Formats: sequence, C-alpha cells, structure tokens
Amino acid sequence: MEKYEIAHREFVRSISPECMVLLKSDGSFPLTEPGKIALYGNGARKTVKGGTGSGDVNVRSFVNVEEGLKNAGFTITSNTWLDGYDKVWGEANALFQGELRDMMAREGLGGLLKCIGAIMPEPEYELPFDGEGDTAVYILSRNSGEGADRSVKKGDFLLTDAEIRDILLLEEKYERFMLALNVGGVVDLSPVAERVSNILVLSQLGISIGDAFADVLLGRSYPSGKLTTTWSTWDDYCHVGDFAELDDTNYREGIYVGYRYFDTVGKKPIFPFGHGLSYTKFEINNVKASLSGSAVNISANVKNVGSHPGKEVVQIYVSSPEGRLDQPYKTLASFAKTKDLTPGGEEVIDLSFDMRSLSSFDEENLCDILEGGKYVLHIGTSSADTKAFSVVELDNDTIIQRLHDVGGKPDFKDYIPECKQRLTNIDNLPILKLFSENIEEMIPITPKIDEAALDLARSLPDNDLALLCTGAYNGGAGSNSVIGNAGITVAGAAGETTGIFRDIGIPALIMADGPAGIRISPQYGVDEDGIYAIGNAISPELLEIIPPQILEFLGLKQGSKERHGVIHDQYCTAIPIGTAMAQSFNESLCEATGDMVAREMERFGVNIWLAPAMNIHRLPLCGRNFEYYSEDPLLSGKIAAAITRGVEKHPSCGVSIKHFCVNNQETNRMNNSSNVSQRALRDIYLKGFRIVVDEASPSTIMSSYNLLNGEHISERYDLLETLLREEWGYSGIVMSDWVTGNHKKPTDKYDGAYAAPSIKAGNDLMMPGTPMHHENLLGAINAPEAKHPITRENLERCAARMIKLAWSKTKNKKI
Ligand code: BGC
Repeated sequence: MEKYEIAHREFVRSISPECMVLLKSDGSFPLTEPGKIALYGNGARKTVKGGTGSGDVNVRSFVNVEEGLKNAGFTITSNTWLDGYDKVWGEANALFQGELRDMMAREGLGGLLKCIGAIMPEPEYELPFDGEGDTAVYILSRNSGEGADRSVKKGDFLLTDAEIRDILLLEEKYERFMLALNVGGVVDLSPVAERVSNILVLSQLGISIGDAFADVLLGRSYPSGKLTTTWSTWDDYCHVGDFAELDDTNYREGIYVGYRYFDTVGKKPIFPFGHGLSYTKFEINNVKASLSGSAVNISANVKNVGSHPGKEVVQIYVSSPEGRLDQPYKTLASFAKTKDLTPGGEEVIDLSFDMRSLSSFDEENLCDILEGGKYVLHIGTSSADTKAFSVVELDNDTIIQRLHDVGGKPDFKDYIPECKQRLTNIDNLPILKLFSENIEEMIPITPKIDEAALDLARSLPDNDLALLCTGAYNGGAGSNSVIGNAGITVAGAAGETTGIFRDIGIPALIMADGPAGIRISPQYGVDEDGIYAIGNAISPELLEIIPPQILEFLGLKQGSKERHGVIHDQYCTAIPIGTAMAQSFNESLCEATGDMVAREMERFGVNIWLAPAMNIHRLPLCGRNFEYYSEDPLLSGKIAAAITRGVEKHPSCGVSIKHFCVNNQETNRMNNSSNVSQRALRDIYLKGFRIVVDEASPSTIMSSYNLLNGEHISERYDLLETLLREEWGYSGIVMSDWVTGNHKKPTDKYDGAYAAPSIKAGNDLMMPGTPMHHENLLGAINAPEAKHPITRENLERCAARMIKLAWSKTKNKKI
C-alpha cells in the first residue's frame, strides 16, 4: 500500500463515526475492552462499503466488520454461524446469477441494463446461534444501485422473517446486543424497533468501515451523526404522488416530502429526520436570537451532561406564516455541530441564516417571496424534538427575487393536507421585528461568455465545434465502453472531452465518477497499443455472466485480446456514501473530504469528479438514494457545497453536481417524465442545487436523463439558460448524463433526448460522446429540414464555454 493510501484510509476511519447514527441506546455500549463477541448478520463478512453502479469505487481492499473486530482484538465466537451463512448465500447467489444469465440471453442489452441494478434478494434460512460470550452484534446489510429502484419486499425495504426472528432472539439471549444497519437507506424497523435496545445506523462508510465500527464499539470514538431522512414504515410516507411509474411520475404531493409531511399532518415516524443519539447526553440552553438586516443570528449553549465525550448537532427549524401560500409545519433553516465535548464540557454555538432563504416560490406572480407575518423559530435535535424560542415578525409581503415561468406545468394541483398540525404557545415568545425595506431584493448578474474563448470558437469549423461539444468517443487505447468507463487517457474513467485540440491550447478534461470516492480502474496496463484497463468498472460478478456478444458490443474487450506490458496501480479511496456524509451534519468534515478526493484526482490526472450527487430523497425506495444526501434541500445543498469547495480549491479539479434535476427514481430513468409543480420544483428539488451554485461555484452540472413535465431536462432552455444562467448567475458548463439520446423502447411514451436540441438549450456537452451525437449536431446546423435545427451560434456558445472550462482546469492556458 502506498503512503497516500494509508493516510487516506486513516482519514476515512477518523471521519466515519461522525457519519454513523445511533438510533437507540440503553448504555450497554461502548464496551470497555475487546473480548469475546458473537457476530451475526448478512453484513458481518459481506459488509457493503457503498452501493453498486457508477457510484461504486474500486479499492485495493477494504476492512469488513469481521476483520475490523479482529483488528481491534476481539475474538469472534460465532464462526459456525458465519460459515453457515456463507453457504446459504453462495447457494442463493448461484441461483440468482443463473436467473440473470437467462434474462440477458432472453432480452439482450435490455436485460443487461436490468442486471446492472439487480440486487440478490436476501434469502431466508435457519442457522443455530453458536456464539459464546455476553455480547453480540448483528450486522444487517442492504445494497442497491443505479438502474433499479428498491422494493417493499422482504430482504429489501422489509426485514426477512429470518432477520426479525434472529434479531429478537439475540436481544433476549445476550446481555449486551447491538443491531447495526449496514444500509444505504431506510429499512422498515417496525418489527424490531421497540424491543431492541441498541440500534446503530452504521451506514456504508467506504474503505475503513470495519475498523471504524470497532472504534465505536470500544468507545475509542463515538457516533455523532443524525438521520437525513425520516425512517418509518412504507405506508407512513406520503403516497399522494406516484413512484416508479414507467412514463409519467406525478409529484402530486408537492412540497410535502419527508418530515415536511410527517410534521404537518402530525404523524409520528419510527425515527424522525435529524434524530441521532450519543453515548452521552446534552443540554441546550441560553438560546438567543438577533437580527442584522435579513440575517438571523442565534446562539445557544450546549453542555455535555453525560459521562462520555460526544458532539451534538443543533438544528433550527422555522414555521412560516400561512398567507396566500401553503406552508409546511416547519422547515430546517440552519444547523451546526459542536466540537468534541468532554463530560461537563460546554460550547456556545452560533447559527445563522438569511430570512431570504426561507422564501417560497409564488407561481402566480413569478417571484420568490416572504409573506408578511410571524416566522416562529424552533431549536432542537431532530425535526420531532424542538422548542419554539423566538419569532421574527415581518411587516409586509416582500419580493426576494423576480423569476420566470420555468419548467412547464403538470396537469394537477399540488396536495394540501386537509388537517394540519397547528402551532401552540407562541404568544409569549420574544419578537424580532423585520421590515420589508431592510430586505435586499436579489438581482442576478448573468455571466458573460468569455470573449477570448468565443473568438476561438468562432474561428473553428462546424466539425470542430461539434467535437468540442461531444465527449471523446473516437477510439483511443483505453476502454471505449460507453457504460461508465469510456475514458481514454485515464483507464476506467467515465469519459473525457476531446484532446485533439491540445495543440491549439484546448486540452482534454478527464472525468471520473463518484460520489463515494473516485471511480477508475484499480490497475491499468500499457502495451504497444496504449493503455488498457484492468479490473473493470463493471462488477466481476456481472462481467462473468455477460454473454460475449454483449461484451463486445459494449467495447469491454474482455478476453478479446491478450494484453501485456507494464502494469500500474491507481487505487482510490472509498469514502462514506453520500447519505452517510450528510449524516455527519458537519460541513468542515465534508470540505476536508472533498479536499482528500481532489488530491487523488490530481494524483491520477482526473479533472472533473462526477459528484456530488444531490437528488432529494423523495421516497425511500429510489435505488440511488444512498448516493444522495437527504430529503431536505438545505442540508443537501450545504453538504454538497462543502464538498464542492474542498474539490474546487484545487485549480485543476472541479465537480459535476448531479443529476439536475427531479431525477428521483431509477425506473425507466431515461424516458420517464417527472411531473412537478413549479413551486415544488423550486422550493424542494432545485433549492439544494442553487445553494451549491451560490456558495461554491461548481465547474459543471450534469443534466439528468429524465423529462420534466414532458420535456427532457437536457433540452430545456428554460432550465439551463433562463434559470441556471440568468436567474442564478451560473457560469460553468452543463453536460449530459451518459449516453443520453435515442433510447426509446417501443413501449416508451417519450422519445429520447437528442444532441442538437440539448446544445440549443445550453447543455454544452454530450457525454461520453458517441458518433450519434456528433452526426446529430452536424446534421442540424442551419438545417431547417432537420428534426431539431440549430444555428452555428448555438454551437459556438457551448463550445466557448467548453474552451473556457478547459483553460481554467488545465495549466495549459490560452495559446
Ligand atoms: C449515471 C451518472 C454517472 C454516469 C457516468 C450514468 O449512468 O447516471 O451518475 O456519472 O453514468 O458513469
């Protein structure tokens, strides 16, 4: 292992406990020393470090829970059970792989796409408990990933019969028992939540997960994360809207996502948003609030009143007045985490937010407004555990920003709950008066296209402009597969922009996936034909079962030619999955992690990291929720902004915040229309993206596959030019998601997205770039007969932005 690998492993180990959420605790943990421990559960050995698909990171090795406990000096007493489970799993997996192979043989490429997201359902079994000692741990794992949504089935969202039976038995059998959830998202804990006394969301923490778990068990470290999503049974979530429909998914629930729904209708979830315990206890008092302009400043004293060290996350929620616009019961407005507090230690913590961040989109008048009235401030440690402490009273309705009619419209009106929880006991709260005239209206400055870049673009022929606006598909020595590893220069990278203009000062930009670290080939070889990837971006299990003709079609070249030459390593570090990063509620930790990722980008020559992924956890079944942060847009935006700052402070590195936008399910993701009102679009689904644009200037944004109200995102001028550039002042580029275009199945209602209308709409780059994209563009320039005609100016504008980006991310500045 190289020095950087060891250092980065240690770094990930040190931050991991902040990403774990202690849901229940009876004081049995931490243990005082390592000893005998009985270890059970499907995740004990097959610990999931992060989900599947493009979000998976190829590591040299990672420490699973069993190894982590052994490293820490524990003696594992349940080996018979663990070996027995391996056997059960092996048999179930063989059957499952057989089913996938049959499906691929039947359905060809379509079958392969289904296989990419397919996860083996957890088998049922009966194995005797053999573990000695008085302490037991049960690691329950779930996996999911790109290409498929989760299901409300046993072994996925639901626990299996075997899991429920065993967890409850173990709770009785052992003096100290902990259920640790090695999951990327919610599982229905209703059968065990009441009876099990110690439950930890271990989450999926990347490379050091086993060691970090042992640290926490032994109190060498402590969990301090909070849930970023409400945990409950499937039936408890808001089901007014659709989920996982094939053609049209109607977001009828409007703004009632996650805790906004639970709190407003007064429904108690199993574990609320923001919840997370410590080994210790905290008291929050001496809460003060003041106003300066439209900024609300709050301070509170947090004291550790227990007997272990810990960190607490203080959360501020606001109930907005209900005037013309419907409002949820309360909304997260700010959060802050204490430093490490030893028993008896205290800290005055400062929080602040701008009242303008609470504005809502007024569809009738096309503006963000704050309605006049009383804004009640609550402080607490979860959305369900808060105390109102102050009121900001705004004298009049106030326009925060004038906006446009963007995103189209669905054919329904958003849901408004009939029966809403009401605020009580607010009459005696201190009031801070805010006057409309003290709130500054936001006037955007639309960035200009760089003149020098535009001049250069204007001097190039059509063909070159088209090449600049499509990824480098044209051969090369690396893998030219289109699925997630189309990179040429860096083996196993997701793709790159064209390098053929290097001589005129426009170098290629290399792009690699995230968000749980950098996804490239762990090794590559160099022979007379150039570089080739070793250890593919596709999982070995999947590679094994893909029929040769499909492999060839995908350009995976596996087995097609014996390659040799010198082998090089490029091992990257798997960091905690997106949801786990957000569970830290710690912006500086996230920034430091972004910085670590960027150091690996520099080492391996990657310019653009295809992360952070920041779609909203609209419902817990989205197969990629583990990559995303939260059901709350403020938290998503702040965490993504922090990670972005960490990456972008390295001059040659940039991010691609994705998937912009309303890409909240995997089912038919390329041809599904998310039908959303403009209010919900702006106040829930776009708000996080805007925070990143405002606070961290990301270099690139990835448009998502799906449609919004019947039009593909990459083809929506109103979103990409009017909203992003004009209203938000975004100055970076927009690229498509991979192989966007022409993917209409006979059963699909909607057509795929095309390169030409995407360029016209301000989607500057088609990735990873295919001949189809290039031809589509060339055939559309000044061609009124084309399906989607474009002008040369459309292409020059996008090409100029690409040139500017290449200049800014490479040392090879203008000629
Ligand atoms: C995913 C993206 C990813 C890209 C490149 C797509 O299938 O949706 O998140 O960045 O592939 O691998």
